[in-house]
Amino acid sequence: MTENDSVDDNWQTADDLLTDLFARAEAREDPYPLYARVRDLDPVHVTSTGRVYLTRYADCAAAIRNPALGAQNQAWMDVVSPDWRTHPSVVQNIESVLFQNPPEHTRLRKLVNKSFTARRVTAMRENVSGLVERALDRLADAASDGGVVDAYDMLARTLPTAVVGTLIGIPEKDWDMLHDPTSSVMQVVEVGVGPNRLVDADRGALQLNDYFTDLIEQRRRQPQQDILSDLVATADADPDNGMTDTELLRMVILLFGAGVDTTVGLLSNGLIAFLDHPEQARLLQEDPALAGRAVDEVLRYDSPTHVVVRVAAPGAEAGGVPVAPGHTVFSITGAAHHDPAQFQNPEVFDITRTGTTVLSFSGGIHFCVGAPLARMEAELFFPALLRRFPTLSLAGPPVRRGFVVRGYSSLPVTVK
Ligand code: HEM
Repeated sequence: MTENDSVDDNWQTADDLLTDLFARAEAREDPYPLYARVRDLDPVHVTSTGRVYLTRYADCAAAIRNPALGAQNQAWMDVVSPDWRTHPSVVQNIESVLFQNPPEHTRLRKLVNKSFTARRVTAMRENVSGLVERALDRLADAASDGGVVDAYDMLARTLPTAVVGTLIGIPEKDWDMLHDPTSSVMQVVEVGVGPNRLVDADRGALQLNDYFTDLIEQRRRQPQQDILSDLVATADADPDNGMTDTELLRMVILLFGAGVDTTVGLLSNGLIAFLDHPEQARLLQEDPALAGRAVDEVLRYDSPTHVVVRVAAPGAEAGGVPVAPGHTVFSITGAAHHDPAQFQNPEVFDITRTGTTVLSFSGGIHFCVGAPLARMEAELFFPALLRRFPTLSLAGPPVRRGFVVRGYSSLPVTVK
């Protein structure tokens, strides 16, 4: 991926470029040349309808933390998409903590922070390491005849579900069954979601509502050592300041949903980055202590999340320009991570890079709850994968998916 290769000569304006980015899946396969061109042409691009697109690191980092730029919350949805309550998948997302502003956000976030502690994540390390080894065993078994296997099915799709399933306390027999409905509900935040995908997402949301309503009741009757039991106890301890049953349901579905496709993206984008750069894979094989920096570099080089969207309150600005109330600001973090003003040689994948602060987990009040868990999982996964399968190689073209959440949906490989 070089910044200026393969830029279409017809791309004359930032509008052309961004239209292409949102309209054509092929433009999103390798969006980095397009991002570089937009950043050169118009780094704070304001469209004729008043939307703002930011592609410089400093502007994105500031916008994500700017309290005058809020979430696309219920009040905003009532104006731009008044029928949103007819879609259970949209309701699940918009009523979750992710799309709240203070004071509701502050209350809900405090409650989840109380259960989702650093101590809990540290205590899961051995468990996660065991789940990584089990996933690698599965790949080894499937590939034992020397044939082509899909590392997406064997690793990327299954491992994050197992890790978040363990955290929440979801019985193992249900992990796989919950993957597809959860993924379809989270797809609602993607660009270009057509009516068919929305039908799937709504069906998924109803299925998850039923499943998690039952699980919450089970934990209420019989608490276990898991985060769901903690959340139920916190909610029930102080009904006035705690969570309603609906808020609890939205929270647990979000914890599962927000932690699956995003981590699938991190693991699969990293797997491809290492296969494309065998010298970097060798560095990590020789020195597993580089794992933390390697995860930062995967997050920067090919981030599993490419955009954070905010809505302007009165008096807001972004990238130094005023934004009218209710208008949206797109911080294209995937572009920010390749901004040469922030990162030297941004198109180079270099796991020894230091001082990287990524925006993949957002920032400010919405900074990702699960970031330490996702990082730990990836830090265990990449060295273990490369140690166990030093001859892992691609056996066909991998299939890309997503833009807001960027990953792959097929990774054909051989292991010898
Ligand atoms: C590589 C993996 C992950 C990435 C890249 C990621 C990314 C993000 C981003 C970008 C946001 C904020 C969006 C915004 O500001 O509008 C976010 C929020 C959130 N994430 Fe993650 N996430 C990951 C893994 C996880 C995991 C494993 C969990 C839970 C187990 C999780 C739970 C959440 C929750 C609950 C929020 C909402 C926080 C709030 O609004 O205050 N995420 N994540």
